[in-house]
Amino acid sequence: MTDLLLLPGDGIGPEVTAQVRRVAEKLTPDLSIEERLFGGCSYDAHGVPLTDETLAAAKAAKAVLMGAVGGPKWVDAPRDKRPEAGLLNLRAGMGVFANLRPALCFQPLADASSLKRELVEGLDFMIVRELTGGIYFGSPRFIEDLPGGGQRAVDTQVYTTAEIERVARVAFELARGRRNKVHSAEKSNVMDSGLLWRRVVTALHSREYPDVELEHILADNAAMQIVKNPKQFDVMVTDNLFGDILSDAAAQLTGSLGMLPSAALGLPGTPGLYEPIHGSAPDIAGQGVANPLAAILSFEMALRWSLDRPAEADRLFAAVEKALENGARTRDLGGALSTAQMGDAVLAAL
Ligand code: NAD
Ligand code: IPM
Ligand code: MN
Repeated sequence: MTDLLLLPGDGIGPEVTAQVRRVAEKLTPDLSIEERLFGGCSYDAHGVPLTDETLAAAKAAKAVLMGAVGGPKWVDAPRDKRPEAGLLNLRAGMGVFANLRPALCFQPLADASSLKRELVEGLDFMIVRELTGGIYFGSPRFIEDLPGGGQRAVDTQVYTTAEIERVARVAFELARGRRNKVHSAEKSNVMDSGLLWRRVVTALHSREYPDVELEHILADNAAMQIVKNPKQFDVMVTDNLFGDILSDAAAQLTGSLGMLPSAALGLPGTPGLYEPIHGSAPDIAGQGVANPLAAILSFEMALRWSLDRPAEADRLFAAVEKALENGARTRDLGGALSTAQMGDAVLAAL
């Protein structure tokens, strides 16, 4: 059984996952690693972004770590064959419904954020994004021609009680091991799916988690509060689309989008999917300047959540912190290190 399946993907994906590989070879040399094409590069080679073999390999591994997929080369590919569709199929196929996106501001980066130091210093806030439901997967979805000219496009936002409950449970459980507070973000003021979301979270809370502090927040207000006073948050649970947007905003609090890792988890005993939350960054791809820390920290999460190596995860986390303390900065963090030099800095700290 492969321990870690690496899916480097497109754009800066292969650049940042190459640094993960170097770190893994030093920190956990006994880990078996396999690598496969995924995303646009798989579409070019096989005509689909995710082959059946790669999905089977993902389900059979202990953990899967991907770089990023997509880019301008594939924007005109048929929708169901676009790199991003491959990613959605991978998430759904692996059943990883809870996406943990930790916005953690490393002490040495408190000045790297576009927000004031006092707002972000000590920030440690976890977004739990529902990942296999909602408008990303709802049907019907289509674009149709209208008789009088023009077109009509439809996407469907849909959630069931069970889908909301299982992701909210992850948020409550996480909060118990942290500062014991959950914010649940939705638009119950305008959306029926938001109303059901609020009712289900409220009922689950009073039934199973009365000891955890729960606050409901409308998603637009959540966006504002994230930039106004982010340290009020401990765990925020939200749907697929709001979670996508709110986590990019939260990433900037940590200094850069290149800092935020993620862990997508399914039922106990199934492999997790680990990915930096950033994309393939076509604007800097091929230049060797991407920040590899989000990918390296995604490996740290894989060690912790899927590979049962908490001691190595602690060592890796400490090494990243040490590298930053020593002044290691890629361009997005205001420095001049290349991707590989940032990898060197983490390896040296290890
Ligand atoms: P992006 O995250 O790729 O880039 C946004 C901005 O952040 C760019 O200026 C980029 O240079 C910068 N950036 C991102 N990661 C960085 C890093 N590690 N180091 C330094 N700078 C970094 O988002 P986008 O430009 O909106 O999307 C580009 C492509 O990536 C699209 O095809 C999109 O669908 C795809 N995408 C994929 C994933 C994924 O595979 N998980 C996630 C988001 C976007
Ligand atoms: C993310 C990305 C993906 C998403 C895209 C590439 C499908 O933006 O992981 O944050 O929207 O989930
Ligand atoms: Mn996103």
